[in-house]
Amino acid sequence: MPQYPDFIIGSMRLGSWGKNLSKAELKSFVDRCLELGLNHFDHADIYGGYTTESWFGDLIKSDSNYQKAIQITTKCGIGYIADQHPEHYVKHYNLSKDHIIASAEQSLKNLGVEQIHSFLLHRPDYLLDPEAVALAFEHLLSSGKVKHIGLSNFSYEQSVLLHQLQPLDVLQLEISAMQPDLFSTAIPGFCQLENIALSSWSPLGGGSIFSPRPDEKCQRILKVLQALQGKYNSDIDNLLLAWLRTHPAQIIPITGTAKIERIEAYMTRGKFQLDRQDWYLVLQAARGEKVA
Ligand SMILES: NC(=O)c1ccc[n+]([C@@H]2O[C@H](COP(=O)([O-])OP(=O)(O)OC[C@H]3O[C@@H](n4cnc5c(N)ncnc54)[C@H](OP(=O)(O)O)[C@@H]3O)[C@@H](O)[C@H]2O)c1
Repeated sequence: MPQYPDFIIGSMRLGSWGKNLSKAELKSFVDRCLELGLNHFDHADIYGGYTTESWFGDLIKSDSNYQKAIQITTKCGIGYIADQHPEHYVKHYNLSKDHIIASAEQSLKNLGVEQIHSFLLHRPDYLLDPEAVALAFEHLLSSGKVKHIGLSNFSYEQSVLLHQLQPLDVLQLEISAMQPDLFSTAIPGFCQLENIALSSWSPLGGGSIFSPRPDEKCQRILKVLQALQGKYNSDIDNLLLAWLRTHPAQIIPITGTAKIERIEAYMTRGKFQLDRQDWYLVLQAARGEKVA
């Protein structure tokens, strides 16, 4: 199984799809992450409308120490309508062999790294040909362009199918107290038994729980978390991370914040586990009903 730090740092909201950090702000954010031992950054070709990889890559290319220290996850396969791709006239998926290989090569150039640590298919393509995917993965691994391969947003059945053709190293899925459906599937157990790393995107529900007007589900979860704050001496963010961490599949959260002080707090205060019944209290609040 590939090794990841305690948290993977998400880049989706750092660039033009989010906080649009200046070059100096990005440098200081990345430098502090590295000091904290958080050297793995999650990207996708489409972030920032196909701009975030190159923007982040400018920093990596500026100093060979970044090239040595930084590890990258990136993803391919969504055809997004953006100025950078005037040939796209409908949002679509493309997991053809040629596209997967070309996309990895483009990401290597954009990011200025010699190898992509973890290369993932972003979403399942309705026109997917499993053998073509396996051939693309085989090429990327044997050429050394990619160290590990994986899938994002694929179902258990789709993941098992592709794993039979080319062993997978990592799955990335939406997992949080606000989106707990994964825990009703065989994916966590599959990952544990097959030594596949499992990472969670939007571990804080994309910030929905912090909205000034949270929806009913978030309100129920908030009420439970507020009641647990004293017991665990923790804020809401770190209780949500602890909720993920309590599962035996050793889920790796992908952080979404652009505020370094939040990441510092995750590192010092977000690494505990909840008692079993407290875990179920949060699940019950998320589902709006007790388990059967
Ligand atoms: N594979 C996929 O399909 C997929 C999809 C989506 C995302 N991802 C990856 O997952 C990463 C994380 O996703 P995410 O950004 O949705 O993660 P998240 O951690 O669930 O949400 C981050 C958002 O919550 C806000 N937030 C965090 N703590 C807060 C607090 N205490 N009060 C108020 N707001 C707070 C952040 O704002 P501040 O910046 O102000 O802290 C940010 O806008 C992305 O960067 C991307 O790399 C992958």
